Amino acid sequence: MAKPKRRYVCAECGSVANRWQGQCADCSQWNTLVEDAPETAFAAKHHLSGGGRVLAFEKLDAPSAPTARRSTSLAEFDRALGGGIVPGSAILMGGEPGIGKSTLLLQAAAAIARNGGDAVYVSGEEATHQVRLRASRLGLADAPVRLAAATSVRDILTTLGRDEPPALLVVDSIQTMHSDMIEGAPGTVSQVRASAFELIRYAKESGVALVLVGHVTKDGTIAGPRVLEHMVDVVLSFEGERSHQYRILRALKNRFGAVDEIGVFAMEGAGLTEVENPSALFLSGRDEPLAGSAVFPAIEGTRPVLVEIQALIVRLQSGATPRRAVVGWDTGRLAMLLAVLESRCGLSFSSAEVYLNVAGGYRLVDPAADLAVAAALVSALADKPLPLRSVWLGEVSLAGEIRPVAHTPLRLREAAKLGFDNAAGPTEGAGDKPRLAYAGLKSLSGLVDRVMASA
Ligand code: TYD
Ligand code: MG
Repeated sequence: MAKPKRRYVCAECGSVANRWQGQCADCSQWNTLVEDAPETAFAAKHHLSGGGRVLAFEKLDAPSAPTARRSTSLAEFDRALGGGIVPGSAILMGGEPGIGKSTLLLQAAAAIARNGGDAVYVSGEEATHQVRLRASRLGLADAPVRLAAATSVRDILTTLGRDEPPALLVVDSIQTMHSDMIEGAPGTVSQVRASAFELIRYAKESGVALVLVGHVTKDGTIAGPRVLEHMVDVVLSFEGERSHQYRILRALKNRFGAVDEIGVFAMEGAGLTEVENPSALFLSGRDEPLAGSAVFPAIEGTRPVLVEIQALIVRLQSGATPRRAVVGWDTGRLAMLLAVLESRCGLSFSSAEVYLNVAGGYRLVDPAADLAVAAALVSALADKPLPLRSVWLGEVSLAGEIRPVAHTPLRLREAAKLGFDNAAGPTEGAGDKPRLAYAGLKSLSGLVDRVMASA
């Protein structure tokens, strides 16, 4: 057996050396190295620096085959995935109950099966006749999908191990799966982890594209097992207000592509249909100018999306604490913007209730939305409609300056394409020749002047 190694630890900085020396190599202090407690017999036995396989290192630029992808035939689904499903990858699709996960995956499985791919759909939540019923309502009953109701991972893997692995395996949902390798009821963290681990290993070994459906808690995280998000290659979130038709499929993590790409769908009588022009969908499409409404050119991944921001200001007579309610934007950011408008522009919101809504059930996280929100607020406060066919973009600093934002030319191009003819935003970054009238604003007071001046 190898002789236990001596270790010397610097009393000053804690760095470790293998031999004693007068000066610490790290902190340059003298006579600070002291011998550490010798390695115990146990530690020596469990040392991991021997007995393993020697790894072969590779160069970063070594040639490798390009990632093959299989189209789901749903262009919006492919887009959210970064161009299609990668064989051997594990995808987690999260979303609230009833948002349409099962519907979307049944449609994708049917499309792949119709195109000659072998698609397997295992439902742990619904009986096969329920899934069949949905398939026939969606007009997919003729697609050669292999359907089963099962919750035992061993049963699923035994069945699939008998013949050629399928192209796609959908497991709906991971919280209903049970692995007999460990104790515990389905849905517990250890069961979810163990079941997912077995299924993912099968996917990696056999090249099957695996989609796991995961329930989502109220705060938007995949219920219980955050750990699942680390195990899979792609995390998709299927979002939308249940009362709205529109659904957004968003990539939160993607080992094979960009995140923040979105796929947009509408839930209709015959299932989910793809929406190619999301801007048209989030704009209310009215011709009359209305106070408190501003249009913001948002960016989702590489894709511009125009959304309407609506503000309502209600003056309070009594001294009651006024409400601030926000749908689709950050409450803290609204408070900040109101504070900046009060302190830098002398507007008073303190005795008024403020309601802010992003139309169409869309959620904005882009800081470039500040200026559009401010424009909606000022317009609502002054009861003056903003100019028709105008878009607003820019980040607002605490000093009230309008700061440049990313992708301004792309945003303006999209706005111009949809018939908008004027825009206001930061003085820099609008590009050479915007195809619409562009007003560069230095500060929020410039915005207030512009709103007040509009007809
Ligand atoms: P579902 O896919 O079961 O949701 P999840 O799997 O995320 O829980 O979708 C269920 C909802 O979708 C249900 O409330 C009804 C609606 N729906 C339609 O509006 N049209 C349709 O064609 C289908 C199949 C469902
Ligand atoms: Mg479902």
